Amino acid sequence: MAATISQKLGALSYVLFFSAGAWCWLLFFALLYLGGFYTRTLLALYCAYIWFGPGSTPPRTGSATPFLRGLWVWRKCAEYCPMTLVKTAELDPEKTYVFGFHPHGIISMSAFISFATEALNVSKKFPGIRFYMLTLVQNFYIPFIRDFVLAHGMCDCARATCLHLLTRGKGNAIVLCVGGAREALLAQPNHFEIVLGRRLGFVRIAVQTGSALVPVLSFGENNMYLVAKPEDGTFTARLQRNLLKLLGLGFPIFRGTGMVLSSIGMLPYQGPIHVVVGAPIDVPKFDGDINSEEGKRAVSEAHAKYVAALRGIWDAHKGHYALERKGTLKIVDLPPAAALRH
Ligand SMILES: *[C@@H]1O[C@H](CO)[C@@H](O)[C@H](O)[C@H]1NC(C)=O
Repeated sequence: MAATISQKLGALSYVLFFSAGAWCWLLFFALLYLGGFYTRTLLALYCAYIWFGPGSTPPRTGSATPFLRGLWVWRKCAEYCPMTLVKTAELDPEKTYVFGFHPHGIISMSAFISFATEALNVSKKFPGIRFYMLTLVQNFYIPFIRDFVLAHGMCDCARATCLHLLTRGKGNAIVLCVGGAREALLAQPNHFEIVLGRRLGFVRIAVQTGSALVPVLSFGENNMYLVAKPEDGTFTARLQRNLLKLLGLGFPIFRGTGMVLSSIGMLPYQGPIHVVVGAPIDVPKFDGDINSEEGKRAVSEAHAKYVAALRGIWDAHKGHYALERKGTLKIVDLPPAAALRH
């Protein structure tokens, strides 16, 4: 079904938000240039706070404002795809949770809409759970955007922040796009390439805090854009890899559709997205040294269970939600023995 203007506006709002890193700088320099003495003083104080002051160190924890999480544009954005949140198990509000979200896709729209807004009624679906979507530390150095993400209850993904959130209260859940920028570069329509094999950080946090791990697989996130995948060894491929190393950011080359013309634009293509939230995997709390042999074993056991659970979601739902899949769920960087299993 063709999208209505309001649904397109919803999707556009998210694209603008995701690319805000760029235009917030423009706004900042425009204000600096055009502003008078007071504006410039305020901007200077603000920057001092976010770059050198208390705002420059973790934990940077937001407090969610129901108004922003409930914004009309986010609901329209969910309708645009349309997007659904599929619950497969209850979550006990007496526990804490580490959610892993896969795949990152180009703009992680379904992660944000599912867990940083109420467009899919996440708080009603999982009563008593407070969701903290985590994002790159880099975002918190950019004027204005940091306050916008904080007001959605988003936090930085530093270790200190994760530990803080998970020891502060029952019912807290952090949500991480585990594969990050590297996974963004692998996003291709109907492909499921997940960067997870060597990502142990989020599991370590679950083990240290005794939080349950919850795998989330988004069917459709990778279908939103047409992505050019440069051949290995070409200039573009090397540039992407170097930017990834240098800045920790992925710069995929992609094409979407437009508000007016369908042939050009940054809007994602329409297509159903099903965000499947798996059953929680209980992880016993490990109090000793996490870098000891015993600690490492606890982490790798929990990681193996997590990988198996993610494959379980794939097997159970690919027949409904990934009808046009090309190949199977591919987990990148797994040790050879585990990779052979499928
Ligand atoms: C969310 O809840 C409201 C009120 O209960 C309901 O009208 C709406 O359809 C729900 N939205 C979704 C996407 O489930």
